[in-house]
Amino acid sequence: MKLTSKKSLEMLEEARGKTRNDGWINHSICVGNAAGVIAKALGLDEEKAKTLGYIHDIGKLIKFKGHVMEGYNYLKRLGYDDEYCNVCLTHSYLNNDVNCTQGEPDSIPFRTEFIKNHEYTIYEKIINLCDLMCTSKVVTMEKRLIDVISRRPQHKNIVYHVKEALKLKEYFDNLLGYNVYDLFPEIKENL
Ligand SMILES: [Fe+2]
Repeated sequence: MKLTSKKSLEMLEEARGKTRNDGWINHSICVGNAAGVIAKALGLDEEKAKTLGYIHDIGKLIKFKGHVMEGYNYLKRLGYDDEYCNVCLTHSYLNNDVNCTQGEPDSIPFRTEFIKNHEYTIYEKIINLCDLMCTSKVVTMEKRLIDVISRRPQHKNIVYHVKEALKLKEYFDNLLGYNVYDLFPEIKENL
């Protein structure tokens, strides 16, 4: 079953007030909107990018810790197509590696294998980038990474993750032919 940006926004709005806090909802809206902007600039499907961005953290509706698997299973149970379920898994990991993540890596064999063998779509890469560029507003990836690193205990793969994040940003700068931050003039106010 297809998912639309309208329906995924409705799912987010329905969740308001029902979880520990609404921060993830505002963040998800930011990720979806930013993904739409990048997709449009690249001549891709803006609607699809927005939908995937809105839905990527939906697992937090059920549980914050472990939201990646929760989101994947939740959308599967509802009968949505793989591309929507998959983004719940892929958004947290770079370089086809479950160890390449902001949080402490943990071991779930299904997820490890999935991430290793999955060919990331351009849309999934856009969500990877936007997840690293959005709080409830668009900020530079560098600012967001420093913010996360300073708030959380560091794990041994943090430098590896930062390097891959910088490569991802460079990948999109090259695709666009200009700095991806140029698409978001508001970024300067958010520094
Ligand atoms: Fe996220």
